[in-house]
Amino acid sequence: MAKKFWGGRFTKKTNPLVEEFTKSIRYDYKLADYDISGSIIHVEILKKAGYLTTLEAARLKNGLIAIHKNVKDGTFRPDKNSEDIHTDIQNKLADKVGDAALKLHTARSRNEQVAFSTKLYCIDMIGKIRDEIEVMDASFEKLAGKNKTMMIPGFTHLRHAQPVYLKDYLSAYGRMLGRDSGRLENIAKSIELTMGAGALAGTPIASKFYSKYIRPTANSLDSVSDRDFVIEILNALAITGMHLSRLAEDLIIWSTKEFDFIEIDEAFCTGSSLMPQKKNPDVLELVRGYAGRLYGNLMSVLTIMKGLPLTYNRDMQLDKEPLFSSVEIVTEELKLMAGIIKTLRFNKAKIEEHLEDEALYATDLVYYLVDKGVPFKEAHAVIGRLVKHTIDNSIEIKSMSDAELKKFSEKFVHKEIIKLFDPKISVESKKSIKR
Ligand code: ARG
Repeated sequence: MAKKFWGGRFTKKTNPLVEEFTKSIRYDYKLADYDISGSIIHVEILKKAGYLTTLEAARLKNGLIAIHKNVKDGTFRPDKNSEDIHTDIQNKLADKVGDAALKLHTARSRNEQVAFSTKLYCIDMIGKIRDEIEVMDASFEKLAGKNKTMMIPGFTHLRHAQPVYLKDYLSAYGRMLGRDSGRLENIAKSIELTMGAGALAGTPIASKFYSKYIRPTANSLDSVSDRDFVIEILNALAITGMHLSRLAEDLIIWSTKEFDFIEIDEAFCTGSSLMPQKKNPDVLELVRGYAGRLYGNLMSVLTIMKGLPLTYNRDMQLDKEPLFSSVEIVTEELKLMAGIIKTLRFNKAKIEEHLEDEALYATDLVYYLVDKGVPFKEAHAVIGRLVKHTIDNSIEIKSMSDAELKKFSEKFVHKEIIKLFDPKISVESKKSIKR
């Protein structure tokens, strides 16, 4: 085991199983960037408060900057024998600057370090995920722009409902993702990035020395205790994952032979080892499947936190894997889905065939009668009977004569009715949408 942050009061060697069981370096090395950023601020505060000479501070800072550089250029190698990333960076700093490193931990605890670096990680990742959402949104807009006038059957209960514009369908998902982005932005804004909590009770350094560089803690017990910000992000990402999963499901259905609305680019599909004809939507299926993982990650941290007495407890170390997992899943999903959307092709002929289904215009026929003074409920019943009649007799409304139509309502005029079976007229007749 690498050098620990503690050990003075122990005479026995730690059981190796305990060391393995308690370590978090395997995953929390992902906090290296943020831990170092926090340490650099801490050095400034220690210097200002008189705990470090200018020379000591400069040495520590340079050492930290050198390690930071390694993190940024990908040459940082966490020592898997370290207990966690905070310990590992302290040890690496000691190797670089010698005894000066012993003072870095003055008035500081890992309890605060871990909360601070996790918060910084979250703020950074929220920015990155919001950027990916923007890319995705741009791909929706591009696809909508390419198919500006295209109409598709709209569905409720996965049954033909009414025709809609494809661009509206796409922008529905765009709006969901827009709210996801707003939700994440609000979370980032509400994260209390503070220092001065120490292990739980604050530090001997006056808050004015913190104020110069960072917000001093308003309540040190709260600062080291809560992971509500992690839960909020996991919640926001679970919602984003749910939106992406629904989009994936729509695309899976639309790409079936039965629907045949779309063609997913080959670069985003996979094949079968046995059936040579297959072009499978495995990426979309995984996006749908990962929603389960995202929900699980949220549940995991909610459950870890529910019974913890204030303040820090080691249980809280277990928030990292679910957090990293959800951030990584959603980031990858957004990238892939943006690629799929950008390269999606619509099968216009097939969609037009679907749009010929008279059922899609039944509601327009109701409005037609309503416009002629028939009460809505009555008009609804008339069209219901008319639809039933056409199904029972395997005929189309369009093919019925004026006299036949008048048996259902004397208001029907055949030459007026036949104009209504037009997707463009149908979608344009909906005036309520403020575009
Ligand atoms: N790796 C630990 C975590 O992520 C650091 C905090 C350990 N603190 C302690 N008092 N044992 O939570």
